[in-house]
Order: sequence, then C-alpha cells, then structure tokens
Amino acid sequence: MINREKLKIKFEEEMKMFDSLHPASKKMFDKAKESLLQGVPLNWMVRWMGEFPIFVEKAEGAHFTDVDGIEYVDFCLGDTGSLVGHGPKAAKDAILNQFEKGASFMLPTEDAIWVGAELKRRFKMKFWQFSTSATDANRFALRLARRVTGRSKVLVFNWCYHGTVDESIASLNPDGSVSPRKGNIGFPVDPSITTKVVEWNDPKALEEALKDEDVAAVLCEPVMTNVGVVLPDPGFHDILRKLTKKHGTVLIIDETHTMCASIGGFTYLDDLEPDVVTLGKFVASGIPAGAYGMSEEFGKRAVIEIESEFGVAKGIGGTLAANALTMAAIRATLGEILTEEFYVRNMALAEKFNKGVQSVIDEFELPWSTTQLGCRTEYVFSKTPTRTGTEAIEAKDNDLDWYLHLACLNRGVIMTPFHNMALMTTATTQEDVDKHTHVLREVVKSIVD
Ligand SMILES: Cc1ncc(COP(=O)(O)O)c(C=O)c1O
Repeated sequence: MINREKLKIKFEEEMKMFDSLHPASKKMFDKAKESLLQGVPLNWMVRWMGEFPIFVEKAEGAHFTDVDGIEYVDFCLGDTGSLVGHGPKAAKDAILNQFEKGASFMLPTEDAIWVGAELKRRFKMKFWQFSTSATDANRFALRLARRVTGRSKVLVFNWCYHGTVDESIASLNPDGSVSPRKGNIGFPVDPSITTKVVEWNDPKALEEALKDEDVAAVLCEPVMTNVGVVLPDPGFHDILRKLTKKHGTVLIIDETHTMCASIGGFTYLDDLEPDVVTLGKFVASGIPAGAYGMSEEFGKRAVIEIESEFGVAKGIGGTLAANALTMAAIRATLGEILTEEFYVRNMALAEKFNKGVQSVIDEFELPWSTTQLGCRTEYVFSKTPTRTGTEAIEAKDNDLDWYLHLACLNRGVIMTPFHNMALMTTATTQEDVDKHTHVLREVVKSIVD
C-alpha cells in the first residue's frame, strides 16, 4: 500500500520544508554546538526529526510555540514528563509558594506525609521513598532487592525500557544468551553477567530463568509501553507473581508510564501485588521526581539491611531527592490534577484520537493497528497487536515513522519521537485531536498508491 518511491521523495521534500520553517532554531542549534555536545543539553534531543531540534519558546496546556513563532499541538508532552499539561495552575501555585519558603533542606516537610499516604492509598505499597527520576527509583529498588535477597542477578523482558538502568539495557539473542543492547555504551559490567532476559508473555522461559534462584528481582512494566503497547496475556501477571514468590525473587512493577491508565496504574486497576512499585515522570508536573513504594514485608527487610551496616544508606538516594519543592509539586499533582476525573476525561479523548487514526487506516486499507492505554494511544505498523518485544521490534518501520513524524511536525502536530505515541491531557481539545486526524490523512494520502 505504501509507495516506497513516493515515501522517499516526500521525505526529502519535508526535510527541506523543515529547514525553511525553522531558521531561528537552526541558528540556536549552530550556536549551541559551540558549548553543548552535539548541540543539545541531552543526547535524546538530537533524535527528533530534522537536521536539528526545534527550540521551544513557551508552552501552555497542550500547546507550545517554538522560537520561530510556530505553534504546535503537543501530543508528546515531554514523552510523558508533562502528561498533566504544561504548567497546570495547581502545580504552578504550589511550586511558587514552596520556593518562597525554601526548596531544599535535607529535612522533611509536612507535604511528604501527605504524599506518602496518598501513594499508599493508590498503589497499596506501605512504605515510600523518593528519587529525582524514575530511572533512579528503579536503580534504588534493584539495590535494595539485591541486598535483601543476597542475590546478584536481575531479570527483565526483551526490549523493555526502564530508563538508563545499566543492567536493563540488555537483549535476548536467538540462542537464549544475553548481550548488551545496541546503544548501551560504556556499561560498567557486561549485562550478560548481571542480567537474564526473557520474552514478555513467555511463562516457560520465565520459570526456567528463575529456577536457579539467583535472580534478586524481576523488573517489568505491567504493560510494555516502550515498543508500542504490548499487553500481558490473560493470566500472565498471576504466573509472574506466583513464580517470583515461589523462587524468592522480588517483583518490581514499573508504573512510570502505565500510571496514565488509572490513579494507581495497573497495580490499582488489576489488583497486582508486587513487592515494589516505581514511578516518576509526570508525578510532579514536570519537576524531576521519582518514587518507589515497598510492601510492608519488603520495607521491613530493607530497613533491617540498611541499619545493619553503618553507611549503607549513603548509596541509596541523592541530595535533591524528596526536597521540599518536589514534594509540594507531587502533592499538588496527585491531589488536584491526577484525579479520577482527569483519567475519565482524557481516556475518552484518547478513544476519539484512536478512532481518528482507525478511520485513516480503514480508508487507505493500511496493515496497521491502534492501541489505547488510558490517556495514551499508539499505532503500530502491524495488522494485529504484538505479543512480545521481538514482535513489536519487527513491526517497526523507521522510514515510515520518520516521514510521518516529520510531516506532522511540519503541519503543527507533535508526536512522540521513536514511536507513534500520543498523550491526552486536560488541555487537549477535540479540535486538537481532529487536527491530528486531518494531518495524518493528508500525509498518508501523499505516500500511498
Ligand atoms: C517504563 C519506564 N520506566 C522508567 C523510565 C525512566 O524515566 P526517566 O528517564 O524520567 O528517569 C522510563 C523512561 O522512558 C520508562 O519508560
């Protein structure tokens, strides 16, 4: 259906259009190259479409304006970091108010008690700790799991992503062995020593990997979200819980993205019973924050380990973690923004977004499918939803991806780079969704026979 020749020509045209639309961003990028590695403050930022990233001037709600004065509908929302929208009032007020009273003390404020109790209510984990990112929450959870179990290995699912957690950036080879994932540069220890990798939805492989009882923790999302949306088979979570319990392995559920599906992610929705829950990204409305909650049993064992050795806790934490500003931001975000109503409203809009995408798929008879995960939507280049990380990776089509993202961007619609993911927030409107459908239709039409 997709005409590859047309796709090539159109992509070149879009690249030229991108250059002509963004002279001010280009100028800033050239200047930035004088002091920033690759011209950006974070290397992910060069992975957007175009020869250079667009520089942002200002944002509000579900829109932002770049330094060339172009306004965009933002469906990327900082790759989930701003799922609550840009600068929601409740968080803005709380952050400004707390900053006036002080940002960082290495001492708790009353907000921490409120936040701990609220996270406990949502995720059923009894004890909470905080970090400056979800990556760190995962790292700290793994350290505690190793200490508590006295085991060294970690198990992850093939093509997972949990932030830049060294052990998790590993791939499963067809012969069952493990290698560093392509792009995992400078790893401290070869992940084949630290990590076991099995395919998602493969209980047999999971049992085989856990039976030696050398795995400290399984780290997984309740639904894989970083290679499209890959759902668990019915019953897979029960098996996962049963096997981890049977073999004395700590189960860490990473709700960083899946907290877009309910006030307490899938732990709340599906009554999961992990030992640890981790999260971050939008939980403080864009202020860096991560959190990890522990079951009563795991928390008590962790405390014994921390107290058993003077100084051991020094390795777990960070000066700015759980600072007063962050805790005020989390309190406002949980208390006033991420409410039941937030999810009801934005899940309904996500459904409409996917209906729009589906209408384009139907009109041009494309072998694609859409999935929805709460306020998060995704379309993949596979006729049926994928079941494993490998299937999801095989469905990828970078040429097509790049063209669609670039052509959307050139028409004022921002999709999340690296995949066809869109997020709905309270400031996203039906017109924004309709604009995406209209643009997608136009750009698809230009490359089909
Ligand atoms: C599931 C999951 N966990 C953790 C992280 C790490 O988040 P951060 O990069 O904000 O530390 C990510 C990042 O995309 C993620 O997708």
